[in-house]
Amino acid sequence: MFDLERGGEVSITQQLVTHFATLIDSGRLQPGERLPATRALAAEVAINHLTAVRVYRRLAELGYVTAAVGRGTFVRQRIPVPASATDATTAPPGGAPSARDEDWQLGMLAARPMTYADEMLRDSLHAPLAGDAIALGSGYPDPELCPSEELARIAAEIARETPRAVTDYLQVEGLPELRERLAELGRAAGYATSADEILVTTGARQALDLVARALLGPGDVAVVESPTFAGVLASMQATGARVLALPVDEHGADIDALERILARHEIKLVALQEACQNPTGTDLSPQRRARLLELARTRGFFVLDDGVYATMRFDGEPQRRLRADAPSHVIYVDSLSKTIGGGLRIGWIAASGPLLSRLVQLKIHADIHTAALPQHLAARYLRGDRHARLLRAALPVYRARRDALLAALERHLAHDATWHVPHGGHHVWVTLRDPVDERALYVEALRAGTAFLPGGAVMAEPASRTSMRLSFGLVEPARFDEGVRRLAVALREVRRGGRSGATGALS
Ligand SMILES: Cc1ncc(COP(=O)(O)O)c(C=O)c1O
Repeated sequence: MFDLERGGEVSITQQLVTHFATLIDSGRLQPGERLPATRALAAEVAINHLTAVRVYRRLAELGYVTAAVGRGTFVRQRIPVPASATDATTAPPGGAPSARDEDWQLGMLAARPMTYADEMLRDSLHAPLAGDAIALGSGYPDPELCPSEELARIAAEIARETPRAVTDYLQVEGLPELRERLAELGRAAGYATSADEILVTTGARQALDLVARALLGPGDVAVVESPTFAGVLASMQATGARVLALPVDEHGADIDALERILARHEIKLVALQEACQNPTGTDLSPQRRARLLELARTRGFFVLDDGVYATMRFDGEPQRRLRADAPSHVIYVDSLSKTIGGGLRIGWIAASGPLLSRLVQLKIHADIHTAALPQHLAARYLRGDRHARLLRAALPVYRARRDALLAALERHLAHDATWHVPHGGHHVWVTLRDPVDERALYVEALRAGTAFLPGGAVMAEPASRTSMRLSFGLVEPARFDEGVRRLAVALREVRRGGRSGATGALS
């Protein structure tokens, strides 16, 4: 094999990591090749087994290998990671400790196998974007459409009138005035009747996490729309529950598929987005909605309805939110992130009964309460009709961007792909007629100067079809055509077995 320098300055773990990384970088170990089992490696180079485990964990963290439970550790198809992200072994003088000093930590971390979605998400988040790249992968709203100046004025008002709003602790459930304002929105949309049902959270992201943790644990079975928002998937999977995929079509979540799952499993939770679903932009049809609620009542499970995009609607009539028809079975989650601004981190849950008490308990454990200043800001902002005016101004802008993206898809990808026309939200879900290697397409798209969110990042289970989420919230309408043209070029390149195929996507 090779000689280890024992007792030297470089740890055994790091020497082995460098050894394997060099073999992979130079192509002597090829994508898909299996590394020796940890016990075999330990025996071969005379190290203890835990060290071998650390070596493979570190290689996995660096994106070189992937572990398949019961099958072994394999060299990954890797996408480019900026040098600064991988070259963590050199620290500035007097700076942070080097990766070498920190290797011991790997043996201490709780084992957390990476899911396919984790890998795809990490790859897309770490991938470098060239200066003129057209970022169709970013799901953020446009900051220009957020009311930052108005919020700055309100912040000054708060500082003048009630300076202790910044420093005083609040009730766990949230600032009473904010809960009242959110209940007003809830009464109009159908998801709440009183402020007592509202728990303010740190973004919808925390709301989803609290719900998952309140309901699920190892041995439980839950169902989630697939594709969905990566965050809800991560929170549900982190509980140790088995998370099954519910397909989504143009009428929303497939309730026939849910019935097939119910024939075989006792489930506790179905997580979906009833309106303007991320990423498909679809609504749950009235028939499916009625059937879902009937099943929830007769089979006794909770429905988690995430409505963060429900107010971001361009087409079609909104239905009353699901919770209006089954308040003790439906847990509603929402936030101000897509309309007022994600930096506020103001989200909320509408729920009732023992479940709400459990959520409050978990909220105390998580962070006692959501920061006070954003709650005061949001409460004052929501006085009067500012929010409604904001939506009236923003929706036509997003609709125009959606239309520009759809026109570009029609022009450049109509022969290769299909998509739903989203009723709202910020995304278009595009599925290729013939599958290709999703990672290779992603790498090629970056080379061509565009990016998307690989479908695998938001699927509960790997799918046989190749899909991607293209987002239009941030991109100027004039750039969609070029962005999608570059994507079409990348697709042709991958189909030809072009550069990605030739280099094994390792450059
Ligand atoms: C469907 C969905 N739910 C929840 C969230 C999280 O929202 P927040 O930023 O309020 O935490 C997002 C964020 O993109 C989302 O797309």
